[in-house]
Amino acid sequence: MARRVRRLFRGGRIVDLGGGHGLLAQVMLLLDDSSSEALVVDRTLPASSAKLHEVLVETWPRLSGRVAFVASPLEDVEIAATDVVVSSHACGALTDRVLDRAVAARARVAVLPCCHDLSTGLATGGGSALAGWVDGAVAIDIMRAVRLEQHGYRIWTQIIPADITPKNRLLLGAPVSP
Ligand SMILES: C[S@@+](CC[C@H](N)C(=O)[O-])C[C@H]1O[C@@H](n2cnc3c(N)ncnc32)[C@H](O)[C@@H]1O
Repeated sequence: MARRVRRLFRGGRIVDLGGGHGLLAQVMLLLDDSSSEALVVDRTLPASSAKLHEVLVETWPRLSGRVAFVASPLEDVEIAATDVVVSSHACGALTDRVLDRAVAARARVAVLPCCHDLSTGLATGGGSALAGWVDGAVAIDIMRAVRLEQHGYRIWTQIIPADITPKNRLLLGAPVSP
């Protein structure tokens, strides 16, 4: 995911929402130094996230001082239009909250959804009419992509290799205008 996002989005602060250990944000910094810093936000940071960061810094000292970790709901962090918002496997409707936060800030965004909740996701996201043609989880993601376009975003839809993860539909968006 980091590699795919970096092919399209350079520069700006990386904001990894529901980031867990923040590996995605850190790999994005390692792949491309065009971003000076990253913010990893998770309601409950894993106990090992600090240790993992230390180990990464030992191997790649240029990560030092560039990654901040915040234990907070993603709703409570400030997002700027210059940020690149990323979120890997934000379960169910959490992906929608990530997209909402990015759209409100007019920030670039990339999500790799998982754990689609078919009972509420189709009803609230408006994809139920598509469920006769496509798998319910696909319908939910199609509606997410369409909503991003309706908000004035250029979108990209990609698949990452299933041997990395079977939850592998990657949706990227960048605002066409501020
Ligand atoms: C499936 S994990 C994904 C973690 C990481 N992004 C990854 O790909 O390994 C989802 C994460 O979202 C976090 N989370 C759930 N609700 C959240 C919220 N409202 N705000 C911030 N983080 C949240 C959880 O604590 C969990 O770490």
